[in-house]
Amino acid sequence: MVKFDFEKFQYIKLEEFNLGAVKERFLEERKMAGWYDLDTSCLEEIKTTAKYIRNNCDVFVVCGIGGSYLGAKAIIDALAPYYGTAKPEIVFAGYNLSSDYMADLLDYIKDKNVMVNVISKSGTTLEPAIAFDFLLDFMENKYGEEASNRIFATTDEKTGTLLELANEKGFKKFVVPDNIGGRFSVLTPVGLLPIAVAGYSIDSLFVGANNAKSEEKYYYYTQLRHELYNMNKNVESFDVYEPKLASFAEWLKQLFGESQGKDGKGILPVSTVNTRDLHSLGQYYQDGIDMLFSTVLYADPNRDLSVQKYDCELSNINRMAMESVCEAHYKGHVPTSVIELDRINEENLGYLIFFFEMTAMLGSYLLDINYYDQPGVNGYKDILHAKIKKKD
Ligand code: PA5
Repeated sequence: MVKFDFEKFQYIKLEEFNLGAVKERFLEERKMAGWYDLDTSCLEEIKTTAKYIRNNCDVFVVCGIGGSYLGAKAIIDALAPYYGTAKPEIVFAGYNLSSDYMADLLDYIKDKNVMVNVISKSGTTLEPAIAFDFLLDFMENKYGEEASNRIFATTDEKTGTLLELANEKGFKKFVVPDNIGGRFSVLTPVGLLPIAVAGYSIDSLFVGANNAKSEEKYYYYTQLRHELYNMNKNVESFDVYEPKLASFAEWLKQLFGESQGKDGKGILPVSTVNTRDLHSLGQYYQDGIDMLFSTVLYADPNRDLSVQKYDCELSNINRMAMESVCEAHYKGHVPTSVIELDRINEENLGYLIFFFEMTAMLGSYLLDINYYDQPGVNGYKDILHAKIKKKD
């Protein structure tokens, strides 16, 4: 169950909110909103493949960047226990250009039983393309012809270099639907295959997402963010009190940053992991420039411990810390919304995925910007590509 408190720590109360017109515009356009349909037609094939992968490898390398890995990482990190290594272990590659990272990864998987999922909608993104070249080389040296049965490609259905390579080598393919942009693709094979391989229920993600769709709580939150932005609150901090939600906050930063930060507009998404960051950024939030609002993601724990010294449960202290921060920040001009999960599970995470995707989309319409492109990302790409030359 997901609960919302949008009002207690706010300066504004929305008497009326009517985003009907915005929704109508979205429904008319629907150009890149395939994610809204919550299509489950790929689930059975993904579950069958995931079962095969789970039974046949120790390490599953997921190679992608941006929307092609953040969603899977968000869900897997949120659901995994803090310590210990699950089988198969899921490791991520292709989201940086660090040679130390790549070299250490290749050493780490050298003697392990490995399978790889390369994910790129365009097939041309530099970071995963370079990382996958290393991984393909590694897999072919280690497994010879059998390598092709151990590599899974998630990419465009019709075009792209990754599709061509997958066809040439005979990798099993999964499709990134044409009408779903990278950062909205977690509930497609992009996110679902790694999540299923990690052993989590992709069906339950859809149960939660469908609940969010029918409850429509995102209207109020969308309008609230927009009103706060109009009051010059230009920065939204996603604050979590369970460290395993840190990657979920990273996914949120990409979703909102790439969808809404354009044309000189948009709320800058940042995040904190509390209570850790109360002892660093907390100072600024309380006393720094007045430009912030906060959205807390608070989750009840799966396991509790008694704290003898205070004669109460540790979860109570964590909750009291969260409430105290809301109160203090409110006094320090940081209005806050609280979103509570009764536990971290697939259903609640699926709920949040759809809730925030709707918010990113509806909020972009309020800003009158195109939510599904990211022209700003090309800035560094153009300069970098001009500096590096491909060998023929
Ligand atoms: O949200 C997006 O569209 C981007 O962040 C992409 O996911 C990211 O750039 C990776 O692109 P691709 O999957 O084409 O390699």
